Amino acid sequence: MTPIRVGIIGFGRSGFGIHANAIASLRDRFTVTAVYDPLPERRSHEDFPDLKACDSVEELLRQEDVELVIVASPNKFHARHALAALRGGKHVLCEKPFGFTTADVDALIAASKASGKVLQAFQQRRYESDFQKVKEICESGVLGRITFIRTSWGGFGRRWDWQTARSFGGGQLYNNGPHPLDHMLELFGDAEPEVWCDLRRSLCSGDAEDEVQILLKAPNSPTIQIDLLATAAFPQERWYICGTRGGLTGGTDKLRWKFVDWSTMPARELDTNPTEGRSYNGEKLTWTEGEWTSAGAADAGAGATPASMPTFSLYQSLWATIREGAPQVITPESVRRRVAVLQKCYELTGIPFPEGTLTGDADATTTVPVPTSAIRSAATGAPEPSLAGQI
Ligand SMILES: NC(=O)c1ccc[n+]([C@@H]2O[C@H](COP(=O)([O-])OP(=O)(O)OC[C@H]3O[C@@H](n4cnc5c(N)ncnc54)[C@H](O)[C@@H]3O)[C@@H](O)[C@H]2O)c1
Repeated sequence: MTPIRVGIIGFGRSGFGIHANAIASLRDRFTVTAVYDPLPERRSHEDFPDLKACDSVEELLRQEDVELVIVASPNKFHARHALAALRGGKHVLCEKPFGFTTADVDALIAASKASGKVLQAFQQRRYESDFQKVKEICESGVLGRITFIRTSWGGFGRRWDWQTARSFGGGQLYNNGPHPLDHMLELFGDAEPEVWCDLRRSLCSGDAEDEVQILLKAPNSPTIQIDLLATAAFPQERWYICGTRGGLTGGTDKLRWKFVDWSTMPARELDTNPTEGRSYNGEKLTWTEGEWTSAGAADAGAGATPASMPTFSLYQSLWATIREGAPQVITPESVRRRVAVLQKCYELTGIPFPEGTLTGDADATTTVPVPTSAIRSAATGAPEPSLAGQI
């Protein structure tokens, strides 16, 4: 088995902490041979003594032995770095958000087709075991027709790094947003969602949103609510699902669900006569219950390094695609759907895109801040008063 030789662009929390560390555990399949980071002190590490330290992206792409380039630079560089790598004849594994617009993703897909090289989005949380179980339960039909799904992500805390700065493409929409949105689109079905979004800046030091709410709906799909909150002093469990036969609740390490079998119950024809004894409608329900507990280490939640199992699963699949021609499990086209919704969120709230789209200027530093009052995608009432200066 010949390991795939890897070059990494951006050697920070993701490039080093997630990717290089995962690869170190998959030595028979992958090996890191080159790295580029603008910070010279980040171009080497004692754990990887044979690493070629490159002075630029171009130098890294000139390394003939590099087959796969991992794009782990800040968000606004993703599309440019991934496009350059594909055009340079490399396979690409690109971090989320994987470009800012569908035009970005389309350009990457076209470059991948033209070069015959694999384009893989690092959407590793699609492999999370709680999500896989939720999908299985929903698709099994035991909960009936799924009517509503809420997923809650967040905690209570300030953040002050580039992920809070619009000039880097920071903000919760593109930081954590891609993960729950990817899960939700998988559960939503193939319909084109109508999107509603609410953005707000509450606790972070930068000018990007740190609070996001998204609603998705379509006639024959569940209504989806995604909450990403920096002010969640009492974080809610990740999953809350309602169906016509029952529901599911739980988090990354444990899920519970219960359902009734309406076929064992008497039919209830509409009866518009006043009820007997002025009673309210009510009947005894017999629940069938289920429970699932994660077999591996669950994700530690917002602010912590993501759990490693989903990363390993994605790397195993990528290896099979590159070396054996196996079909991709997570296609760029499926991730394009998620990019389209995030793009719509900015468009609907009137917040201009962060610079860094392939058609924009990646070096621009002037941005429009997200207000501290709620910015809504539809006229749903007056914005709340500004909270600036109150923390
Ligand atoms: N999938 C996940 O679960 C996950 C988790 C963390 C981060 N990420 C993603 O990884 C990317 C990097 O985030 P991070 O948390 O590692 O940030 P980071 O700041 O820790 O690392 C980014 C690195 O990129 C370098 N860099 C800056 N400008 C660059 C340029 N022009 N070219 C190349 N490198 C450059 C920085 O010096 C830094 O070392 C982001 O897109 C983020 O969304 C994904």
